[in-house]
This record gives sequence, C-alpha cells and structure tokens, in this order.
Amino acid sequence: MKVLVTGGTGFLGRRVVAALTEHGHRAVVVSRGTDNPWNTDAVELVRSDPTRPGPWQTMLGTCDAVINLAGAPIVDPPHRWTETRKLQIRESRLETTRCIVDAFRHVETPPAVFVSASAVGYYGSRGDRKLDETAPAGDDFLARLCIEWEEAARGAADITRVTLLRTGIALGAGGGALHSMLTPFRLGVGGPWGAGTQWWSWIHVADVVGLILLALERDLPGAVNAVAPNPVTVNEFAKTLGSVLSRPAVARVPEFALRLALGEAAEAMLASQRVVPRRALDVGYAFQYPELRPALEAALHA
Ligand SMILES: NC(=O)c1ccc[n+]([C@@H]2O[C@H](COP(=O)([O-])OP(=O)(O)OC[C@H]3O[C@@H](n4cnc5c(N)ncnc54)[C@H](OP(=O)(O)O)[C@@H]3O)[C@@H](O)[C@H]2O)c1
Repeated sequence: MKVLVTGGTGFLGRRVVAALTEHGHRAVVVSRGTDNPWNTDAVELVRSDPTRPGPWQTMLGTCDAVINLAGAPIVDPPHRWTETRKLQIRESRLETTRCIVDAFRHVETPPAVFVSASAVGYYGSRGDRKLDETAPAGDDFLARLCIEWEEAARGAADITRVTLLRTGIALGAGGGALHSMLTPFRLGVGGPWGAGTQWWSWIHVADVVGLILLALERDLPGAVNAVAPNPVTVNEFAKTLGSVLSRPAVARVPEFALRLALGEAAEAMLASQRVVPRRALDVGYAFQYPELRPALEAALHA
C-alpha cells in the first residue's frame, strides 16, 4: 500500500510512518520542513504546506490511502490560546483537511481510505458519563473545532471510506502531554491539577498506531474513539505517574492557578472526558496497553 501522510513528522506521525514501512507499505509524507528521519527509500518526503493547494494534491491520486495528522499544537507545550493562536490551531487543521478532500474530488483514481485525526475534545466536558462514539458533541472551542474538522473530512465520504479518529491523550516517549509534565514529577513537585476528579482518556501511542493500521485494513467508517478501555481520573493518573517514577505526586495545581496561567487553554486540562473505545472493542481490536501503569512504564522506559 502507498499512503499519503500529512503531519507525518509529528509525535504520532513519525511512529505511524515507521509502522507503515515495517508492515511493507510506502509513505509519501507531506511536510513544510525538510527533515526526513526515516532513512529509507520507502518514505518519500514532499516539501509542501498541506494547508495550501499544490502539486502534492495530485500525488494523492497515486496513493491507496491517506492519513491526516497535520495541525498546529493545541496544548503541548502548554500555552495560552490567544485569538491568533486559536486561528492557527483551527485553520491548520481545517485548511489541510479541505485541501485533501479537494484532491480526492479531482484525482482520477481516489485512494480507497481516508483516516483523519480528531480528538476526544469533541465531547466537551461531561463529568462521569461514559462517552462512546454515539455521545453528542460539546460546545467549547475544542469541541467546535473537532466538529468542523470532522465535517471537513466527511466531505470525501461519498468518494472514499472516511475514518475519524477521536484520539485521547497519547502517551509515548519524547513528546506529547507526558513529556510536558515530566519535569515537575521527576523533581517531586508534580501532582494532580484542578479537582482531580475529572476523567482523562489516555492511550499509548502504540495503540494509536494500531488503530490507524486497523482503519486502513478494515471497514471502519465514521468516528472511532482512539482511547484505552480504562480511562482514569486525574488524581489516579498523577498517583500512578508518581508511583512509576518513584516520586511523591501530591503537589496539587489548583484550578484558579491553571486558569491564571493558561486562560481558556486550561479547559483542555480541566475537562472531564470519560471516553470508551466502543467501536474498537466491537471489532475485536486487542489493545497493547489497556491499563495505565504498563502504558506509563513503556512510555517512560522506551
Ligand atoms: N498527541 C496527542 O495526544 C493527540 C491527541 C488528540 C488528537 N491529536 C491530533 O493528532 C494529530 C497529530 O498529533 P501529534 O501529537 O503527532 O501532533 P504534532 O506532534 O504537533 O505534529 C503535527 C504535525 O502537523 C504539522 N503542523 C504543525 N503546525 C502546522 C501548521 N501550522 N500548518 C500545517 N501543518 C502543521 C507538522 O508537520 P510539518 O512541520 O512536517 O509540516 C507537525 O509534525 C494532531 O492533529 C492532533 O491534534 C493528538
């Protein structure tokens, strides 16, 4: 299979591209940069901005599948969402997705499958309620972004199979949310944030990759929650992380301090999302890391 990937240089994308080549596939990575860390003929780097139309779109017609992971960072590293920042977060995703869908419409032989990222932010903050793929969307900035992002991707649904991967907090070495919180935890001044009773829907990066490969192979149209089957509260997350690092994890960051430091972006840390991977389990996907502790151990000792 030949797969066009946007965002292939990112935290998730690098692993997805590596897994594609390990499975004997080829990848065409559309990137604004020039860094090709894969060191194999199986990966072709096409230097282009995926938010803009360009010759890269015609290359989509030579591929069997598309994986869309591009987008300006939302929370990692933590930063305030200024209006400029929000526009960048939004446009980088929507414009890329629209360009891909436009390409699907214009190439002679469109790829058979389109896997496009979304996020558990789709659901907003919902307390203790278990959220499978049928749960309604929320109404905050991230929820509205995910709605628009998914709608843009569904624009290709009459041409190809579209899977929307509502991804949770991905845990892996060298990036993502875990990387941002490691320093205080390692120094022994880490701990839960906000009330700590809010649910965090995490997933190990190996399972994000596993679910993307599954979506390439199996008929999984529509939204798929990419989260581990055992979400935890932030209190539990902090306690487990502290225990894996053999450090105390009792220094709570109060909600007001987070809001003061991050403004609206604090919502991403304070939202309660108890998301369950109903569709992945229904099709028999076997999670490599269904439980948090082994997932953290693997991520930290990789
Ligand atoms: N990691 C998570 O926990 C998580 C959770 C939920 C959803 N997601 C979503 O999954 C996708 C991949 O996540 P990730 O953690 O791998 O992200 P990432 O490490 O930030 O990488 C995203 C990639 O997008 C491209 N990009 C960055 N800014 C851009 C811009 N302004 N315009 C166009 N492209 C831009 C970059 O590629 P180039 O520099 O090569 O162009 C970058 O490598 C993202 O859309 C993210 O929102 C991730």
